[in-house]
Amino acid sequence: MKWIDVLNYKELSEEAAKIIKERINNSPNLTIGLATGSTPIGLYEELIKAYKHGELSFSGVTSYNLDEYIGIDINSPQSYYQFMFQNLFNHVDIQKEKVHIPNGNTTDLQVECAQYEKLIKNSGGIDIQVLGIGNNGHIAFNEPGTSFDAKTHVVKLDDSTIAANARFFNNKDEVPVQAITMGIGTIMKSKEILLLISGKGKQEAIEKLKSGVVTEDFPASILHKHPNVTVIITNN
Ligand code: F6R
Repeated sequence: MKWIDVLNYKELSEEAAKIIKERINNSPNLTIGLATGSTPIGLYEELIKAYKHGELSFSGVTSYNLDEYIGIDINSPQSYYQFMFQNLFNHVDIQKEKVHIPNGNTTDLQVECAQYEKLIKNSGGIDIQVLGIGNNGHIAFNEPGTSFDAKTHVVKLDDSTIAANARFFNNKDEVPVQAITMGIGTIMKSKEILLLISGKGKQEAIEKLKSGVVTEDFPASILHKHPNVTVIITNN
């Protein structure tokens, strides 16, 4: 696991964008795994800037998002679908048919999970996966206690995750209680992983990750077993 310490959020975003830009420019048909949440927003802004300056193109890129709430309309501003289009896809030349976000509004969620997993596999797997981390160590929506072998599946969100995500809703009761998420097994199959950690509220997660103890009680700890992980971190 390679750690890159940076001074602030701007540097974190620039450093992450530099890596993604290089990977896309080296492999224009790259398959990228993307995250939502506050942390990657600066990265997406940097990628949009680079695209507008003619420094990269997403035209050959295929994307898979980590997760989506269940039972939230995709047109709702809080859906991860809207998040991705507003913060990245609407501003770059990615082809809509190459964008994949789990569908949390389908009647058969099990079929959706199985199909999502199969689509990733048939794309040849994820070349580089961008991750954030929850205060409780979750990666994607894999909450503490999730099996390290899990594939894409339906989860019940932890109370702490619901409380953390309530900032995007009018109140806590509006936060969906379930989501579809790539599993830890799915994430671990990515060829490369870029974990972004920003914010004072992540101190406990940072300490646990740095301790190197690998346990299902702290999902992100599995990343110690992956051969190609870069962590970009700022305490500010
Ligand atoms: C988002 C996701 C989550 C977030 C995590 C951190 O797609 O999978 O695991 O990465 O909750 O969120 P922020 O960045 O808002 O602190």
